[in-house]
Amino acid sequence: MPTTADFITNNRERFQKELFDLLRIPSISTSPERDADTKRAAEFVRKQLQDLGFRAQLHTTPKHPIVTAESPMAAGKPTVLVYGHYDVQPPDPLGEWRHGPFEPTIEGENVIARGATDDKGQMFAHVKAVESIIEAEGKLPCNVKFLIEGEEEIGSPNLDPFIESHKDLLKCDVVVISDTDQFAPGQPAICYALRGLVYMEIEVVGPTHDLHSGMFGGSLDNPATVLARIIASFHDADHHVAIKGFYDHVRALTPDERAGFAELPFDEKGYREEMGVTELVGEKGFTTIERRWARPTCEINGIFGGFQGEGAKTVIPAKAGAKVSMRLVPDQDWKTIAKLFEEHVRSVAPKTVKVNVKTHSGSGPVLVPRDSAAVKAGMRALEKGFGKKPVFMREGGSIPVVLTFDRVLKVPVVLLGFGLPDDRAHSPNEKFNLGDYERGIRTSAHFLHEIAGGK
Ligand code: BES
Ligand code: MN
Ligand code: MN
Repeated sequence: MPTTADFITNNRERFQKELFDLLRIPSISTSPERDADTKRAAEFVRKQLQDLGFRAQLHTTPKHPIVTAESPMAAGKPTVLVYGHYDVQPPDPLGEWRHGPFEPTIEGENVIARGATDDKGQMFAHVKAVESIIEAEGKLPCNVKFLIEGEEEIGSPNLDPFIESHKDLLKCDVVVISDTDQFAPGQPAICYALRGLVYMEIEVVGPTHDLHSGMFGGSLDNPATVLARIIASFHDADHHVAIKGFYDHVRALTPDERAGFAELPFDEKGYREEMGVTELVGEKGFTTIERRWARPTCEINGIFGGFQGEGAKTVIPAKAGAKVSMRLVPDQDWKTIAKLFEEHVRSVAPKTVKVNVKTHSGSGPVLVPRDSAAVKAGMRALEKGFGKKPVFMREGGSIPVVLTFDRVLKVPVVLLGFGLPDDRAHSPNEKFNLGDYERGIRTSAHFLHEIAGGK
C-alpha cells in the first residue's frame, strides 16, 4: 500500500482539479446576487467531507450556510477542529485580471483565481490531507472536525451565535486555521497574533440637492470639502492616529518581541517593489514590520460623493462619504474605538452639515501563546511539510472568529499559514503556489499525526 506521502504525490493532478472546481464557484459573500453560488460552494465542501465518511452538515443562517463535519469519533483520541472559509472577496476591478477571476488558470507554479490563497486553496489542503491519510493508512490518527463558513470576508456576523449554540458539536482539543501566510517563499511561519478591525462609514450631508457650483459655490460649506477636512484630521504629521484616546489601551511591544521582529529576514526593497511604491511611510518610531503587525492604524478604504463619471460636471454634491477601517492591537476594544472615532468626527465637523456615522462590523485583536503543545506540534508539522524550520510572526490582517474559539471553546488555536505575502489576496490576479498547496497538504497530514502523539 502507498504511504500518505506517496498518495499525495500520486494524486497531485486530481487534487489540483478538485480545487479548481471549487475556485470556479463565485462565492462572493458580500453580493446578495451571488447567494446561490455561496450555497453551491458550501454544498461542494460538504459533499467532499461526506465522501470521506464524515458526518457532514449544512446549517442555514440569515446569510450564508455553515458547513460542519466530523470523522467517526474514537474515544480517547484528541480532536482537531479545522476552521476555514469558502467565501471570497469581490473580484473588482475586473479589467485588471489576466483571466476571468473564476476561471482558474495555471501560470508557471501558480494557479490564478479569486479565493486561490484566501481561503479556498489553504482550507482545501486540509480536506485533501484527511483524504490522503484515510486512503493510505485506513484511518485517521486522531478525531477531526471541520467548521467551514461563508461569511468571513464580511466579518462573520452569524458565526459567533452558531458557535455558542453548537458547543458540543464543535468540542475539540485544538483548532487549526490555514488562512495566513508564510513569512517569505520557502520560509514557513506560525502566526501568533492578528489585528482586530472596526469598520466605519461616514456620511456628510449638506444641501438637500446637488447644486450648480457656479451659481452657489463660495456661499455654503461643500460636503466633499468638509469630508476631506475630517479625513485629514485622522493623522498627525508623524503618522500617529490623532483620534483622542486611540492609543490608551495599546499594549507596548516588549524589547524581546521587537528584537525577534528585527531578526526576521525582511526584504524591505522587495516589499516596496511588490506594491510598486517608491518609499515606505508610517507611524514614527516603529519599523515597517512593527507598523504592519503590532501597531493600530486608521485607513480610508473608499471615498465618494459628487460627480464620479468621465469628463467634467460643475456641481456641489449634496453629500459625500467615506469608508474607514481601523486595525486594532491588544488591548484595544473595538466598541470603544468606534465610539472615540464617532466623537472625533463630530468634534471636527462644522455645524453647517449633518454627519452620519455608522459601524459596519468589529472584531478584537488576538495574541495566542507561543508555547502550547499544539503550537509545538504545528512547528514540527511545518518543518516536515516545508523542509525548513518555521519562524514566529504576527499578521496585520484579521480573522474575527479566532477570539471566539479562545473565549467559547477555550482551546489553543494554531495558525498554520500556507500562503505567500505576494499572493495578492483581495487584489486582482490572486494566486496560490501549487507547490505550497501540496506542502500544505503534507503539513496538515503531519499535524494530525503530531497531535495524535507522533508517528
Ligand atoms: N485571510 C484573511 C486574514 C489575513 C489577512 C491573514 C492578511 C493574514 C494576512 C481574511 O480572509 C481576511 O481578509 N479578513 C478580513 C476580515 C474582515 C473582513 C472582517 C480582513 O482582514 O480584512
Ligand atoms: Mn481568509
Ligand atoms: Mn480575506
